[in-house]
Amino acid sequence: MEFTVKNAPIAKQSTACIVVGVFDSHRLSESAAELDRISRGYIVNVLKRGDMKAGAGQVQWLHDVPRTACERVLLVSCGKKGELNDATYRKIVRAMAGALRDAAIKEALCCLPELEVKDRDLAWKVRETVTITEDVLYRFEHTVSKDTNARARLARLHINVASSDELAAARAEVKVGKAIAAGVKLTKELGNLPPNICTPSYLAEEAGRIAADDPRMKLTVLEEKDIAKLKMGALLAVARGSRQPPRFIVLSYNGGAKNDKPIVLVGKGITFDSGGISIKPAAAMDEMKYDMCGAASVLGALAAIAALELPINVTGVIPSCENLPDGNATKPGDVVTSMSGQTIEILNTDAEGRLILCDALTWCERLEPAAVVDIATLTGACVIALGKHAAGLLGNDADLVNELLTAGRETGDRAWELPLWDDYQDQLKTNFADMANVGGREGGTITAACFLARFTKKYPWAHLDIAGVAWRSGSDKGATGRPVPLLVEFLMKRAQESAQA
Ligand code: BES
Ligand code: MN
Ligand code: ZN
Repeated sequence: MEFTVKNAPIAKQSTACIVVGVFDSHRLSESAAELDRISRGYIVNVLKRGDMKAGAGQVQWLHDVPRTACERVLLVSCGKKGELNDATYRKIVRAMAGALRDAAIKEALCCLPELEVKDRDLAWKVRETVTITEDVLYRFEHTVSKDTNARARLARLHINVASSDELAAARAEVKVGKAIAAGVKLTKELGNLPPNICTPSYLAEEAGRIAADDPRMKLTVLEEKDIAKLKMGALLAVARGSRQPPRFIVLSYNGGAKNDKPIVLVGKGITFDSGGISIKPAAAMDEMKYDMCGAASVLGALAAIAALELPINVTGVIPSCENLPDGNATKPGDVVTSMSGQTIEILNTDAEGRLILCDALTWCERLEPAAVVDIATLTGACVIALGKHAAGLLGNDADLVNELLTAGRETGDRAWELPLWDDYQDQLKTNFADMANVGGREGGTITAACFLARFTKKYPWAHLDIAGVAWRSGSDKGATGRPVPLLVEFLMKRAQESAQA
């Protein structure tokens, strides 16, 4: 989809649709007031008749508004004047995009960024407009044969700014928004692909497509024999029940100086999690194709920062395999030796994410990272604790954790911190190895992070448990592309800081 920025007299816009905001008690935004003047009170009349329901996010279509050049006007209700905040702005943009999609409108002029939002500047509003519109218009098509393309789709959104002084800033921000939206889309596509297509080798090939033609990117893919040579016993223990060979994918983006330490993103890449011998119940097991959403978010974030040409070094590390039951599969009670040398008693083969991540986190030491952030659909317990709104966040470095919390607030892709206290470590004790891979029902998200913390002592590290936020269930089932917006915002801030230093 194309986004352009304009500063145009809206009466003369001969577009299919102009989108303007209106407030409670028949109050109008500047552009709505302009249309009302041109049409000699038409807009206020409609509002007075009461056709439009109250509440931010309600919409009303108007056709052939007198003396305007556009075919339609879309009124979007913005609640009380002077009270727009982050959440309501996002809500009204979402409402606009949904209305444009459902009416199969191909082109529109959006005047919403002119609205005043508490503590937010034009750049923020433009970026949110772009990313939310792309999010709403996304559709998965790879494996659907009926012609979903038949219906017209929004091809162009013109963003109207209040003054010509704002054109340059808004245009720059459209670029940022498009880069983030493209990263989010890539992450959704990979997540939504069926697990018979999106295998560990497929993820490696996808990383190759991202690296292709970009001289700043470098890809290394390790195969089973390389993984064995590195003594990644925990990763191999998970992979052994599957006919699909594992992959260890390292995709680096070198936009910074040669000696700048990289920020490392580690993504859980279980392309299907049946639970293994500790097999999961059948209900909704298909959703375990999404168990590679951490990996997908690493690829999406890397694609975005490459498009943004950020002046930093970022390395994506993706341990990837399937978790399946088999005659050769790992059994509850098996003890394996991780790459770190620490031994692990695998009491539950369904706690496989931490097993592939622990070896990846040990491997990261050789990169001498500035920081490591792992992203994983790690625990059902996180969905119970935080629901679908916030990712769980735990780490060994308060500054890093705070940077990620802030990035989440800026983008609406929020995370919430849980404690990583040593008190929880006791739950991983066992008589038969250095640690067990499960810590019982209590504090399941925390004990999973405690397990990872034993492998991340040499660098600043944070862990994002995205089990609740990576995809939606039910009739609207689909990947969300989270936490790509959070990750890109975090990296953009880091890039800004290193440019200033
Ligand atoms: N991939 C799952 C976590 C998960 C489950 C995410 C449901 C989203 C929805 C992970 O590998 C897993 O199975 N975790 C177990 C851990 C337990 C055995 C300690 C879980 O959460 O039940
Ligand atoms: Mn599992
Ligand atoms: Zn899993």
